[in-house]
Amino acid sequence: MAFSLPALPDWFSKKATSVLGVDIGTSSIKVVQLRREHGRVVLETYGAIALGPYAGQEIGRATALPAEKIAEALKDVLREANVTTTDAAVAIPYSSSLVSVIKLPAGIEKNLATVVPIEARKYIPVPINEVLLDWFMISDPKHPSPDGKIEVLLVAIHNDTIAKFRSIMTESQLLPSFFEIEVFSATRAALDHGLAPVAVVDMGAATTKFYVVERGIIRESHIINQGAQNLTLAASRALGISVAQAEERKRKWGLNDPPPTPGAAPGPSLKQSLELTLSPLVAEVARTALGWEQRANQALSTVVLVGGGATLKGLQDFLRGKIQNEVRLGDPFGKTQAPAFLESILKEAGPEFSVAVGLALRRLQELG
Ligand SMILES: Nc1ncnc2c1ncn2[C@@H]1O[C@H](COP(=O)(O)OP(=O)(O)OP(=O)(O)O)[C@@H](O)[C@H]1O
Ligand SMILES: [Mg+2]
Repeated sequence: MAFSLPALPDWFSKKATSVLGVDIGTSSIKVVQLRREHGRVVLETYGAIALGPYAGQEIGRATALPAEKIAEALKDVLREANVTTTDAAVAIPYSSSLVSVIKLPAGIEKNLATVVPIEARKYIPVPINEVLLDWFMISDPKHPSPDGKIEVLLVAIHNDTIAKFRSIMTESQLLPSFFEIEVFSATRAALDHGLAPVAVVDMGAATTKFYVVERGIIRESHIINQGAQNLTLAASRALGISVAQAEERKRKWGLNDPPPTPGAAPGPSLKQSLELTLSPLVAEVARTALGWEQRANQALSTVVLVGGGATLKGLQDFLRGKIQNEVRLGDPFGKTQAPAFLESILKEAGPEFSVAVGLALRRLQELG
C-alpha cells in the first residue's frame, strides 16, 4: 500500500526539511514523510509494505528477516511511496530492547551516571558493555515516594541491534538522525497533552504491547504474546481456507458479518472465529490495565489502541463492556495537515502508522 500526495506549490518554505519516520515491524515496514510549513506539520507521503512476501510467507505474517532482505523491502516502499528525503528517524522494536522502571534511594540524583550502570546489571542479562544504556528520572526529586525511593526509567538496546538497523539504513541510502525504542514513538503519536494516566496498546502481528503513560512519561510497559496474526491463523483453520484468504477476509469484513456464501458448508462464521481468538487477548489487556490501576491506586483515563491490529473493523464495539475504560483508536495523522478528501482514509489507516508518525514528529521538533 502506498500513497503519495500531489506536490503543492512551495514558494514560502524552500528551506523546510522533509523528515521520514521508519517503523520496521515484524510483519510490515511503515514510512511517513512530514515537513513543517508555516509552523504546521504537513503530511507529504506515507506507505507500508508487507514483509511476508520477502520471507516466502503470507501478507500480515510476522517475519524474522536478515538486514539485507529488510533493506530490499524498505527500498521498495521508499520508491512506491515517492519518498524524497533521506533524513530518517528509526524505531527499534520493543522486543529488542529493555525498558524497565527501577527504584533507587532518594538523594542519589546527582550520581545517577555512576549508580544506574551498576544497578542495571541486575536487570540486563548481558554484559553492560554490550548495550547502549540510557535513563530518565520519572519521580519528581522534590517529592520522593513514601518509601523514600525515586523511580528511574531504564532503557537498554543491544549494540548488535543498533548495528543491524544502521546497516539497513546505509543499504537503503537513508541517514538515520536517531534510533528510538518504539514505545516512545507510539505514545508521542497517540496522546494529547492530558495529565491523567493513559494506556497505549499496540496490536502488532505476533505480539501486543501495553504501555502506561502519565504526564508524557512511561510508567510501565509489557508485552503480551498474542497478536493480530493469531486471528488470521485461527480463521484459516476454522473456516478451512488458506491463510492468505483468511487475511484478506479479516481485513475486508473484520467483525462485521459478510454476506452468506451460497452453498457454503455449515460451520463457524468469520466473525465467530475472530471473536473467539480475540477474547483471550482482550481479557489479557483488560487484566493488565486493571492490574496497573490497582497497583498505582489510580484509574486509567483512556485506552488508546494503535498498530495494524487495531484497524480491525468493529473492534471498538466488540470491546465495549469488556474493557472498563474508555477506548479510542489512535489518530496520529490528526496531528498533521493533509487534504480534506483524505480525512477518512487517514483516520482509518492511522493506528498502523502511529510509530512512524511519532518518529517523524520528534525529528521535526529537533529541527525546530
Ligand atoms: N484492516 C485490517 N483489519 C484487521 N487487521 C489488520 C488490518 N490491517 C492490518 N491488520 C493486521 O495488523 C497486523 C500488523 O500490524 P502492524 O503493522 O502494526 O504490525 P507490526 O508493526 O509489523 O508488528 P510488531 O509491532 O508486532 O512488530 C497484521 O497481523 C495484520 O493482519
Ligand atoms: Mg509495530
